[in-house]
Amino acid sequence: MTTRFTLPYWYDLHTHFRQDATLQATVKAHVEMGCMGALAMPNTKPPVGKVFASEKVADYISVEEYRDEILKAADGAFEEVIVPLYITRDTTSEMIESGAKAGVLKACKYYPPHGTTGADFGAPFDMFIQNGVFKAMEETGVTLCIHGEEHGLDGDRYFDRAENAEEIFYREQMPRLLEHFPRLRFVGEHLTTKVGADFILDAPDHVKATVTPQHLIYTVGDLVKGLKYHLYCLPLVKFAEDRQALRDAVTSDRNTKFFAGTDSAPHTQKTTPCGCAAGCYTGGIAPQLYAQAFEMCGLDLATTGAQERFKRFLCDIGQGYYNLPAPTKEFTLEKQPETLSNLQIDGQTIVPLPLGMETDLPWRI
Ligand code: NCD
Ligand code: DOR
Ligand code: ZN
Ligand code: ZN
Repeated sequence: MTTRFTLPYWYDLHTHFRQDATLQATVKAHVEMGCMGALAMPNTKPPVGKVFASEKVADYISVEEYRDEILKAADGAFEEVIVPLYITRDTTSEMIESGAKAGVLKACKYYPPHGTTGADFGAPFDMFIQNGVFKAMEETGVTLCIHGEEHGLDGDRYFDRAENAEEIFYREQMPRLLEHFPRLRFVGEHLTTKVGADFILDAPDHVKATVTPQHLIYTVGDLVKGLKYHLYCLPLVKFAEDRQALRDAVTSDRNTKFFAGTDSAPHTQKTTPCGCAAGCYTGGIAPQLYAQAFEMCGLDLATTGAQERFKRFLCDIGQGYYNLPAPTKEFTLEKQPETLSNLQIDGQTIVPLPLGMETDLPWRI
């Protein structure tokens, strides 16, 4: 008999919709995979660097405008969208306070300077520790979403057997953040290491983390074997021991901290003359991939116990943390192979993960 189970609609609490035609297509794909909303990343061009459209700060898009654009593209299918403010050198504590007070600002995003796609506007962590921006967030209850990788490292510290950029960030920066701002709500985004997972487990209850499908399914060996560049994202997929720590964290029956955030990141120009853009596109297929991952963790999704843990990770923990509207609709996951295809946008192609790795998905919606 085919395994099948129903789930409430869910929120993808870390995703990249981009802009224009790509935004129209990616929002639609999210709706088709049972999403009722999202936390939509602000590394657009230009970035979402101000809260209100009327604010006079550099050449930025505003949280208000970008959120409206996404809601409009969803055409009523999204209950709520959180757009975090991209914190830059131009961000002030006054912007945080007025944005929070108006109810427009729910979250901010920290990018390590030049650390990843569209991260050219990021500023050093210390700047926000010192200039009152993190303090204002702590006081107003605005959540800090953190791309936790140390920036400016040479290759031999960036990714080494001894340690890597994420581990350094979680060992050196995260404890300082907790020390300075013990009540600040923050999320370690797209965790990839055991060091990161252990930090989150030990941290207070208001500190949580998102985990992507690719970091639960693959390791760096899968990336380098055949140079499967569609799996290239930042932070990089890591080692089996790291993946095991993430698998244990998301499938634990005591999980209250780890929730779904796909980091779905479409690229129409994945390779360039000098390298490769970071980001795996998983729009339309994320619950299927997460179900595959849970099975790889040894859970039998035919049992209600495993289904309950899966639902907590995909639907409940993040929705509760961000206090988002509760779902009223359901969708069904079914263990039946589905053949994948590319997303075509205006003559350009976006290759989803795991296409480029596999051609079939074991689960379908
Ligand atoms: C991305 C790109 O152009 O590949 N941005 C970047 O590299 N700074 C943006 C995108 O993929 O849309
Ligand atoms: O792989 C990534 N892609 N990591 C990020 O942090 C950004 C994202 C993107 O925007 O493409
Ligand atoms: Zn990131
Ligand atoms: Zn991201």
